[in-house]
Parts: sequence; structure tokens; C-alpha cells
Amino acid sequence: MKTSIKNLLKKELRNKSILITGGTGSFGQNLIRYLLKNFSLKRIVIYSRDEKKQFFMSQSKDFNPENYKNLRYFIGDVRDYSRLNYAMEDCDFVIHAAALKHVSIAEYNPMEVVKTNIMGANNIVQAAISNNVKKIVSLSTDKAVNPINLYGATKLASDKLFIAANNIVGKKKCIFSIVRYGNVVGSRGSVMEIFKNLCKNKNNIYPITDSAMTRFWVTLEETVEFVLLSLLRMQGGEIFVPKIDSIYIKDLVPAFNSKAKIKIIGLRPGEKVHEILYSKEDSESTIEFENFYTIKPQIKFTTTKTNYFLTPLGEKGKKVTPGSEYNSFNNPSFLSVNELKRLVKKY
Ligand SMILES: NC(=O)c1ccc[n+]([C@@H]2O[C@H](COP(=O)([O-])OP(=O)(O)OC[C@H]3O[C@@H](n4cnc5c(N)ncnc54)[C@H](OP(=O)(O)O)[C@@H]3O)[C@@H](O)[C@H]2O)c1
Repeated sequence: MKTSIKNLLKKELRNKSILITGGTGSFGQNLIRYLLKNFSLKRIVIYSRDEKKQFFMSQSKDFNPENYKNLRYFIGDVRDYSRLNYAMEDCDFVIHAAALKHVSIAEYNPMEVVKTNIMGANNIVQAAISNNVKKIVSLSTDKAVNPINLYGATKLASDKLFIAANNIVGKKKCIFSIVRYGNVVGSRGSVMEIFKNLCKNKNNIYPITDSAMTRFWVTLEETVEFVLLSLLRMQGGEIFVPKIDSIYIKDLVPAFNSKAKIKIIGLRPGEKVHEILYSKEDSESTIEFENFYTIKPQIKFTTTKTNYFLTPLGEKGKKVTPGSEYNSFNNPSFLSVNELKRLVKKY
């Protein structure tokens, strides 16, 4: 991150309180590590359900409340409005990263995913408005674009709730935006984790669902910086999409193990061959900036008139070509096997 931008963020976050739902997850932990290292926040509230994850996190030296007096661990479920409402007291910012995110698990437990990803999102919106939280950013996924699985559909519904929230704030000064990106390298339950285990167990057969499959590919560090930058860029109602790399999933196999053989096992329920970050249908509302896109809200807000072509950081954007699409296959930026080898070594 450029020093000038980091300085702006330092100013924005100094002595403020932030609540992170899903603070014990892959994204949450990386965000919190970055916040502790770079900024002087008054309070960082970690909000999640499982006491075991919180316990082990609080025992590690990176997140020990003995070393970091501004860290607070809150057990709570996003399905529980009253607990959320209490946890958000005096918070200036909320980053909503809690979700159920496994495509196949969602297909088998549909109502559970609806309760967490949709009802939970609505609770965040209501609690944030009730506590006058200034800025709320919710994390979205490429699977929410033209969804074919329940996980994606619930994240799309969640995105819509956050966008519409800008219309129900009344006199409160809360703004809500979304950050949407693709597969995160090495996040919990990712293909990297599966291949790492095969490598460890000296298994030479690597399952791939479709040999043509591509995916967007982004590191946790990139997502953390992009989400923090969105706190400076957001005016309310936008979906921010970073320009990121793509990979062929089959290229991961030689990156892990040059002797491995690929076994094609067929697409799983709800799986696409390529993912989309902005669709042809979104293109009329999509603005291109140097390193990212903004999808502006399609509904009109009654209270504000925002120029989404100019960010508060002075970045100027232009309309994308109508009918264009940003998908993991037509992405101009693909990682090579050698680049993947370097990533795998670090992981
Ligand atoms: N990983 C990716 O490749 C990727 C890509 C695009 C977008 N995203 C989005 O990024 C966000 C973060 O993903 P991640 O990879 O960090 O996920 P993760 O590692 O699975 O972490 C999920 C977090 O959410 C918490 N959580 C789950 N259900 C909850 C509930 N009902 N109430 C409160 N907390 C709950 C979990 O803790 P407990 O289980 O203890 O509650 C955990 O802290 C998600 O919104 C996901 O959709 C992820």
C-alpha cells in the first residue's frame, strides 16, 4: 500500500472502534494482524460463534489480548440480533466477513445457509443502523454473480440487503458497501488445502473436476488491503471488485507435484467452469478504475446523489463497454505454472 494512502487510513482509523464478524476466519485473522501492525485503533471486536477458535486465537502471540489491549473477543452468532446490537455499541466501522461458504455443504443444509448468510446480513444492517455505525463493508464472492448454487444465491441476497440498507438509514450517517472477489489462495477449505494434504501424504493422483476450469486467484494480503482501501473509497451502495489474476486449476497440480497425475472427477453440484466478477448484465452499471471496478447500485437512493465516477481518493473512472464481462476465463492476467510454484512454496 502506498505510504500516502496508508497515512490517510491511519487518520481514518486512529482511536476508532471496528467490529469484524468472522474475525477468527482466514480473512478475519489476516485483517486483524494487519490492523494491529499498522494502525492505532481504540477497539477491535472479534465476533464469531466457536469458543475453541477464539481460545486458540487469543493464545497465539499475534492475537493475545495481554499484548494487544485493544482486542476484544465476543462470542456471538450473526443470527442473534440482540447480541450483535450489544457488540456494535460505539463501533465506527463493521467489516462483515462471517459466512457459511462451502458450496456443497450449503446444498445439503439450505436453511442454515439462508439463516446465516441472509438473516445474519439483515441483522448486521439493523444493528449497524441502530448503533449509528459510520461505515459497513460486507464481503461478497464471485459466486454471487449469476448464481447457480445456494451459497452464491444467499451472498447475492446479502449484497442486495447491504445496498438497499443505504435507503433506510433515515437521518443516521451510516453507509454500506460491498467488496467482491474470487478464490482466496490458501483460505480454509480451499483447493490449496486439499492439494497440500495430498502432497503431504505422498499421493500422486490429484482430482480435478473439469480440465478447462479457471478461477480468479487472490492472496489474503491483497484482499485485506483492498477491503481497507474501500473504507476510504466508499460512498455507499457500491460493489468494489479488484482486478486480480486468474489460474487454470489444472496448473496447480504440477505446481504442487511435478510427478502427479490428474484424475477428472466431473463438476460437483453447483460448480461453474468459470466464475464471473461483473456480468454482461452488470456492465451498464460498471465503472473501470486503474486497479479495480465499481458496480454502482441499480436502485436509486432517495437521500443522496453520488458521483460514483470519482472516488473520495480522487480516482477517476470510466464506463466499461456495454455487454462486456469480467470472468476468470477472459481475464487478461493469468498466473503461469512457475508463478504458481512460487505461491505454493510460500503457502
Ligand atoms: N475464502 C474465499 O475463497 C472467499 C472468496 C470470496 C469471498 N469470500 C468471503 O469472505 C468472507 C470470509 O471468508 P473466510 O475465507 O475468512 O471464511 P472462513 O475462514 O470460513 O471464516 C468464516 C468466519 O465466520 C464465522 N462465522 C460463521 N458463521 C457464523 C455465524 N453464524 N455467526 C458469527 N460468525 C460466524 C466463523 O467462526 P465460527 O465458526 O466460530 O462462528 C469464522 O470466523 C466470507 O463472507 C466469504 O463469503 C471468501
